[in-house]
Amino acid sequence: MTPTATHPPGGLAADAARLRAALLDHYRRTAPPLPWRGEADPYRILVSEVMLQQTRVETVLDYYGRWLERFPDFASLARASEDEVLATWAGLGYYRRARLLHACARAVMAEHGGRLPERYEELLELPGLGRYTAGAVAAIAFGEPVPAVDGNVRRVLARLEAEPEPTDAWLRETAASLVPAEAPGDWTQALMDLGQRVCTPRKPACQSCPVTEWCGAYAAHQRAEESAPGPEAFPAPRARRAPRAETYALAVLHREGRVLLERRPAGGLLGGMWALPE
Ligand code: ADE
Repeated sequence: MTPTATHPPGGLAADAARLRAALLDHYRRTAPPLPWRGEADPYRILVSEVMLQQTRVETVLDYYGRWLERFPDFASLARASEDEVLATWAGLGYYRRARLLHACARAVMAEHGGRLPERYEELLELPGLGRYTAGAVAAIAFGEPVPAVDGNVRRVLARLEAEPEPTDAWLRETAASLVPAEAPGDWTQALMDLGQRVCTPRKPACQSCPVTEWCGAYAAHQRAEESAPGPEAFPAPRARRAPRAETYALAVLHREGRVLLERRPAGGLLGGMWALPE
């Protein structure tokens, strides 16, 4: 069956209940089981959300279980040394995340009696928790109806509203207008899942999308036949800063089968990592 495209005037919010029901139903029927789905422990949910930033689900799957074996709770993570934390994270990239998660565990132990605070505004105060992570954890772990906009959600919302240049404020407002009071965690994950499996960057699978009926980009394309840009044109590519060439000299000093490494200064490129002296 060809999906119909009758993007309702008045925006998505006007027909939000049907849109939500269609997407939630699709998510609950078709989303693959992932170890953090259906998880109730806020610590485990936080770890999954931090790992999933800037990292593909398939990659995280490898690390998530190992991390939880080594650091099953805030207490064990807070007690660990930074070296242990970084060694367990090694290979996942963006090591700042590991350091901030470590700092967060220490703050939770020192200031919150070992329990993650439950409200979005309180979560935002913790090290490493920005709007995205605080929103995802508040919704998934504690059922607070707040939005969480990652790259997948940004793409899905831009297409639903045929908005080529979504600003952060627009995204927050649009996402907030759709979050249901019931099951906001499932809703958040349903949007992310749609972006990962259906509403993909280059070749969105509109034929198997549960929400084409509400999709502005899909409707515009249908109306204009072949000439209009398809949903894949939304959002417009962000202007990228031109890459800057930098040259470094590294020293390789070895003696008796051992190589000299130094710890790079915290904060900069590969901060805190062991590397050849620069
Ligand atoms: N990406 C970020 N958080 C996610 C989640 N909870 N499920 C799937 N993908 C995600």
